[in-house]
Amino acid sequence: MHTVSTISELRDAVRAWRSAGLNIALVPTMGNLHAGHLTLVSEAQKKADRVVVSIFVNPTQFGIGEDFESYPRTEHEDREKLNAAGVDMLFIPPISEVYASDAKTVVSVTGVSEAYCGAFRPGHFDGVATVVCKLFNMVQPDVALFGLKDFQQLTVIRSMVRDLNIPVEIISVETVREAGGLAMSSRNGYLSAEEKIVAAKLYQSLCTARDAVLARQQPYPEIEHQALLFLREFGFQPDYFSLCRVSDLKKAGAEDRELVLLAAARLGKTRLIDNVCFFK
Ligand code: PAF
Repeated sequence: MHTVSTISELRDAVRAWRSAGLNIALVPTMGNLHAGHLTLVSEAQKKADRVVVSIFVNPTQFGIGEDFESYPRTEHEDREKLNAAGVDMLFIPPISEVYASDAKTVVSVTGVSEAYCGAFRPGHFDGVATVVCKLFNMVQPDVALFGLKDFQQLTVIRSMVRDLNIPVEIISVETVREAGGLAMSSRNGYLSAEEKIVAAKLYQSLCTARDAVLARQQPYPEIEHQALLFLREFGFQPDYFSLCRVSDLKKAGAEDRELVLLAAARLGKTRLIDNVCFFK
């Protein structure tokens, strides 16, 4: 695996691949790689001739008081995993390569960025959209892969790509879960052994709510309320638990068919997010 840290080295390699008629997939990450990331890589290998993985802990998507400083950085282990997975190139730039100190441009996706995590983490999705747009400009991939676990992030990125006519196909990949159902996340490392067992209740609450929606026995706000009570009972501090329509993440109405339940909750010092998508 070739590792580069500058945009010019990256572009040289990508240019050579392009001249050879090869197409390119990008898997953007913040490192601390787990089985979910490696699934993105294996899906990328099915979609393109060459796979670039970026590792960049993006400061602009962390709010004041969030975990930018303490976010797990495991470069050595990450390299080994990517190498073993047969990744072609690792792009691991320093902050100064990505952001000019006097940068003046921010990509802001209105609407789908504003509620849910956007409301609890002001500025977060501007940071995500800006860095993903920049990574797309740096790598110029044909396809880019993102996990469904970050459903709102995926919706923001799809909107950005459509609105800015960015010629990258966005591919979503199923969430990888622990045996108990907990969605894999780099932040799961913050959980104690006991918390990790309780954390699986978040997915359980989503599945129970989905089944209640499909059973059509209760109004949607009642289903959301029951889920919030369930989570609080197990020691979570929920930020939100919302039944939305997939198309624009607005609250679902009775007529909507393609649905997603979005949830975020704190357990101790760890903020967990998860979702389930389904048709009614
Ligand atoms: O999902 C992530 O790991 C990050 O938000 C991303 C997409 C790599 C942007 O920094």
